[in-house]
Amino acid sequence: MNWDGTKLLITGASSGIGAATAIAAAQRGAQLALVARSADKLEDVARRIRESGGRVTTHAFDVSVPEQVSRLAAEVPVPDVLFNNAGAGRWKHLVDTEPAEAAEMIGAPYLAAFYTTRAYLPAMLARRSGVCLFMNSAASRLVWPGAAAYTATRWAVRGLFEAVRAETAGSGVRAAMCTFAKVSSEYWQNNPGSESNVPTAQAFVPVLSPDQVAAAILDGLAAEQEEIIAPWQLRLTFLASRLFPSITRRQMGRAT
Ligand SMILES: NC(=O)c1ccc[n+]([C@@H]2O[C@H](COP(=O)([O-])OP(=O)(O)OC[C@H]3O[C@@H](n4cnc5c(N)ncnc54)[C@H](OP(=O)(O)O)[C@@H]3O)[C@@H](O)[C@H]2O)c1
Repeated sequence: MNWDGTKLLITGASSGIGAATAIAAAQRGAQLALVARSADKLEDVARRIRESGGRVTTHAFDVSVPEQVSRLAAEVPVPDVLFNNAGAGRWKHLVDTEPAEAAEMIGAPYLAAFYTTRAYLPAMLARRSGVCLFMNSAASRLVWPGAAAYTATRWAVRGLFEAVRAETAGSGVRAAMCTFAKVSSEYWQNNPGSESNVPTAQAFVPVLSPDQVAAAILDGLAAEQEEIIAPWQLRLTFLASRLFPSITRRQMGRAT
C-alpha cells in the first residue's frame, strides 16, 4: 500500500492511538478525515497535521448513534481505509458495572464499528477496494477479573471483524484487526480506575507508546496483514492461551 494520497478515515482520532495514527499517516502522505465527539480536540490534532503540510478534515460526531453516522457518511466520501478505533470503557468487575456503563461500552467500540462499517462497506464492495480496520485489545482473547464489560465488547469487535472478513472474502475489500497490549495513551486518564485492574501478567509485556502503535498499524496495513498484533510478547501469550488454556487462565487471574 502506498500511503501517498490514500484516504484514511479514523474514528476516535481526538486523542491517544487514533490521534497518533492520524499524525503518522499524514507524515506518510495520507489524506485524513478525523472523527470523534470533541470538536476542539480534533482541531488540535488537525492543526498539528496542517502545520506539517498534511491534508485533513475534522468531523465531530458520536459514532455510537446511527443518525450521526449517517450524517458522517453524507459528509465524508468513502475512504480507502476505514479505521474503526473509537472506544472507551472503565475496567470494572461485573457487579460494580452500572447498566448504563455496560450499554455505553457496547455503543463504542462495538456498535460504533458496526454502524460505520455498514455505512461505508456497500460503496467499497461496489468499487471492489477498501480496507476496514478494527482496533482491538488483548482482552479480545485473554480474560482477567475486573474488566467484564470491556472484555465482552472487545470479543464482540473480534466477532465483527471475523464476520466482515468472511463477508468480504474475494470481493477486493479487506478486513483487518489490530490488537495491542497496554498502550501509554490518555485512555487511562479518560477511563479512571481502569489501571488498578491491569493483570500482573502485563508486567511481562512491554507497554507501547501511541507512536509505536501507530507505526505498527501503518506498517501492518502496508504489508496487507490481516491481524496486526504487538508487541511480540502478546503474540506469544495468545499462543500460550491456545496451547495451555488453564495455566494461562490462572496467570491472567492474578490481579494487581
Ligand atoms: N490504551 C490502551 O492500552 C489500549 C490497548 C489496546 C486497545 N486499546 C483500544 O484502543 C481504542 C482507542 O484507545 P486509546 O488508548 O487511544 O484511548 P483514548 O485516548 O481515550 O481515545 C479514545 C478515542 O475514542 C473517541 N471516542 C470514544 N467514544 C466515542 C464515540 N462514541 N464517538 C466518537 N468517538 C469516540 C474519543 O474521543 P471523544 O471523547 O472526543 O469522542 C477518543 O478520540 C479503545 O477502543 C481502546 O480500548 C487501547
